[in-house]
Amino acid sequence: MMKATAMAPANIAFIKYWGKKDVKLRIPSNSSISMNLSACTTTTTVEFSDDFEKDIVSEGFDSTRIIEHINRFRKRAKTKVKVTTKNSFPTAAGIASSASGFAALTLAASAALGLKLSERKLSEIARLGSGSACRSIPDGFVKWEKESASSMYPETHWDLRDIIVIVEEKMKETLSTAGHDLVSTSPYFTKRLEALPERISRVQQGLKTRNFRLLGEAIEEDCLEMHHVMQTQNPPLFYWTKETSRVIDTVKKSGLPAYFTVDAGPNVHIICEQKTEKNIIDVLKNYQIIVNKPAKGAHLI
Ligand code: PMV
Repeated sequence: MMKATAMAPANIAFIKYWGKKDVKLRIPSNSSISMNLSACTTTTTVEFSDDFEKDIVSEGFDSTRIIEHINRFRKRAKTKVKVTTKNSFPTAAGIASSASGFAALTLAASAALGLKLSERKLSEIARLGSGSACRSIPDGFVKWEKESASSMYPETHWDLRDIIVIVEEKMKETLSTAGHDLVSTSPYFTKRLEALPERISRVQQGLKTRNFRLLGEAIEEDCLEMHHVMQTQNPPLFYWTKETSRVIDTVKKSGLPAYFTVDAGPNVHIICEQKTEKNIIDVLKNYQIIVNKPAKGAHLI
């Protein structure tokens, strides 16, 4: 039977991927570093069969992009396909599902065809579906360099938390794809590329020595710089809302040891250590939140 089910986590970037060296192949302009998220997963079943008269994809998902990705495997299976997929988090919660989605789809499709691909190969294929998806294949804390991503440390390395604060229920995913391609219109893009090697080494050192302050300060710096680049592109991209700033202010005013990061949307990710989790949750009691621990990468179920 040509059928398999895989689960993959979303991930939060500590060093952001923004801009591509090769647009079509989604080769990034810079290396990025992320942590897999335990409470934000996609589970996908892929089934190839002659019984299907046409390709079928779960409702509410981008079937064109999903079938485009399946077609990368299609020369191995000439049949139609059925893709059943669901997210553990509310689809309307404004959390990017492309990373978990394309990682789970890649592993399920290759397993359905009986392919035994290396983690590196799976990461390369996932990247073609969505750049950040290549970081959801390996376990725990992950670094993406050039074509593929690999694990720096397993999920057990450091009991960090990513508390996602839901600010808005819409995700601007198409904007983010187009946004990558206009990055060079920002005069700050080359400055960012110059600053990155030193910041990446701080994040690596912070992770290695579990130095929370060293890591956290570099995470915030990188987030602010990416948004500065986004806002100075032509046309400019504004992902922050007043509510984004309000959430960050609320956490900062608490004086608790926690750092923020924001992706291509208004939701806020609060990074803290396990010992601070309860206090942060208390500070955010008026908000809808999702508490994540570091997680394994894509796996079959
Ligand atoms: O994978 P994409 O094309 O959706 O790009 C993701 C870009 C950011 O989320 C803004 C940063 C990152 O590294 O995840």
